[in-house]
Amino acid sequence: MRATVDRPGLDNQGRTPLIKIRRVRKGDLSKVRDVLEQAFGDFFERQMGTRPRQVFNGAQYVHHRWLMEPWGCFVAEEGDGKIVGAALAVMWGTLGLVGPVAVLTNYQNQDIGQQLLTACQGFFDENKATLQGVATYPYSPKHLGLYQKFGYRPKGLVVVTGKPMDRREIVQATRPAKPGLGVRRYSSLEEAKKKAAMQRVRRITNALYRGMDVGKEVEIVDGLALGDTLLLEKGRDVIGFAIVHMPGVSEAPHGSVYIKFLAIEPHHRKPEHLHALLGAVEEMAHAAQLQRVVAPVYTYYWAAYQSLLERGYHPDFTMVRMKRGKQDDDERPDDLVLDDWR
Ligand SMILES: CC(C)(COP(=O)(O)OP(=O)(O)OC[C@H]1O[C@@H](n2cnc3c(N)ncnc32)[C@H](O)[C@@H]1OP(=O)(O)O)[C@@H](O)C(=O)NCCC(=O)NCCS
Repeated sequence: MRATVDRPGLDNQGRTPLIKIRRVRKGDLSKVRDVLEQAFGDFFERQMGTRPRQVFNGAQYVHHRWLMEPWGCFVAEEGDGKIVGAALAVMWGTLGLVGPVAVLTNYQNQDIGQQLLTACQGFFDENKATLQGVATYPYSPKHLGLYQKFGYRPKGLVVVTGKPMDRREIVQATRPAKPGLGVRRYSSLEEAKKKAAMQRVRRITNALYRGMDVGKEVEIVDGLALGDTLLLEKGRDVIGFAIVHMPGVSEAPHGSVYIKFLAIEPHHRKPEHLHALLGAVEEMAHAAQLQRVVAPVYTYYWAAYQSLLERGYHPDFTMVRMKRGKQDDDERPDDLVLDDWR
């Protein structure tokens, strides 16, 4: 049953306020960020008993996501123009991802989260998503219930791992694993070469899930200098890549380099290739004097998960991946992929 008293979200007769869902405009961005940070801050405080000093440990989601996918960003607005909720969604080619989603605490349990999710589903339908996904809290009946109501099914765990940097290890790790293997930064390429590299990146993700395309994530990192994309080359071929965020205004937490997405082309899925890319990411962290690398991994990608653990990455926290649409799981346990649907 829903509470009808002591809720600023309700009018003086206890009625749910009139809420309009609309797309995010440029002038909303800082308010959207506040709404996310307040709602998640309250949620973490309820879960852990203390409020984190900084929600998401300094990681930012709103500004670059909106620039990257403005049609996928929605707010819930009260009659007087107050923003009380927000949801960000993105299309990775045929894969639609939703999150973060947040509603101010005093406005929760009044259907606003569902209205925001409905808007995201509309966006996915317009873009003909064949699969939709979200990462959420496996211990929260509310979160599971909410997404299940929209047809999402809980699948496997996502483990967000981290590794503190050790200088000696970096020196060893950055020696090329094999002759002919090299790492190049996307930002250092001329425009024509970027185009060719992007085609290879697209071919790699398409081989993992038909139509998956993270090209806009590569472009936003390059365009806004949020970090860089590392290209693993064998001879003249790109056989893997890692989209890396550096802290500041990206999704990287304070003091950490964050791997947003990493994949090795399926024909080249050898652990040494994953290690070569991870070594290069760790070198980036070291060069920027950062103390940590954060790498998320979906446990269905068992070999990738094991490689991280062997390399000294430790689980920081877990989330559950939920999927809607295609019911078969496409992940092969030996695919070397690190991806984050948050
Ligand atoms: C998650 C969040 C966005 C939901 O927003 P909301 O406006 O409260 O959600 P709604 O009122 O639209 O929907 C709540 C639904 O959750 C489900 N639910 C709630 N409690 C539940 C429970 N104990 N068991 C199962 N399902 C439950 C129901 O489906 C319910 O809808 P219904 O009662 O109409 O069937 C909001 O709680 C929030 O901002 N939380 C903090 C940030 C966060 O965790 N974001 C999501 C990260 S993935």
